[in-house]
Amino acid sequence: MKLPKKITIKEVSPRDGLQNEKLSISTEDKITWINSLSETGLSYIEVSSFVHPKWIPQLADASAVLEKIGRKPGITYAALVPNLRGLVRALETNVGEVSVFMSASEAHNQNNINKSIEETYPVLEEVVKEAKIAGKTVRGYLSTVIGCPYEGRIAPSQVRKVADRLLSMGIDELSLGDTIGVGVPSQVEQLLEELLPHFKTQQLAMHFHDTRGTALANIMKSIEMGITTFDSSLGGLGGCPYAKGASGNVATEDLMYMLHEMGIDTGVDFKAVMKSAKLIKKILGKKLNSRQMDILLAEEKECLT
Ligand code: HMG
Ligand code: MG
Repeated sequence: MKLPKKITIKEVSPRDGLQNEKLSISTEDKITWINSLSETGLSYIEVSSFVHPKWIPQLADASAVLEKIGRKPGITYAALVPNLRGLVRALETNVGEVSVFMSASEAHNQNNINKSIEETYPVLEEVVKEAKIAGKTVRGYLSTVIGCPYEGRIAPSQVRKVADRLLSMGIDELSLGDTIGVGVPSQVEQLLEELLPHFKTQQLAMHFHDTRGTALANIMKSIEMGITTFDSSLGGLGGCPYAKGASGNVATEDLMYMLHEMGIDTGVDFKAVMKSAKLIKKILGKKLNSRQMDILLAEEKECLT
């Protein structure tokens, strides 16, 4: 198998990770932690989300976080926006990039953003248009690309239909989300076989939740098919509150271990990532869903005994 020399990791834990955390984290702790992520070599950090604060109270401080974090050159500090109201709030903070989002399945779209798929298109079209006028790049997320918690398996042709609409709006990249982590490599293959005749690999990123432990296998299948951008989350944090049973994204450190051992460059420093993972572990006061963290903690315990 021919491997790429470089893979881009897009870190989504401050948004996808924290949006699912019950414990309320202070704005100061978020800022300290995001600043530590800026020291890792990551080039992309999704910092927060300008959705309705009533829907995701944990990220109600998105403006303060975006305003107060230290910004390092070469890093894109992005945020999720669901509509024009969210975009206006995001632009007030000089966000680096905005991400619009919707689902391939009707029921998840309705539960997540309170609209049908058809009703969502004009909302996002307007956001993309206005974001571009403001000089911002726009990422698009498409959720439930393999399975939906309400509708079951989603046909690749349905994903292509919605992906086509999103890319025609002028988004710069489309991230395909296995929101509830049901996918297996053969399904990833079927999905990409459907999409790749129509879209370039550079237009696509993959966003795997690791609910059933298949994320790394799915990433390997995606790499084999030419994808070179992956979303991941420090400590395996994450989940969509509007997708029953959804757990965290693939852990950034577990993904890095695999890629680095295969000789693929990510530009990210493993030790710095583990330092940042330890910080969020301390803030959250809980065990992380990360094999690399388990190993580090076991080694440290051994040193002490
Ligand atoms: P809605 O209630 O249908 O909104 O919510 P509306 O347009 O009817 O407006 C109702 C009121 O909310 C109005 O206020 C608006 O101004 C206000 P009023 O006039 O009544 O006083 N409002 C807002 N206020 C602040 N910020 C806003 C905003 N929008 C409207 N942005 C909405 C629709 C989309 C806002 C709502 O459903 C929502 O916030 N949903 C959040 C969903 C969410 O965050 N889900 C998790 C992220 S997606 C995900 O995790 C998947 C992903 O990781 C990929 C994957 O894994 O697959 C990306
Ligand atoms: Mg997600």
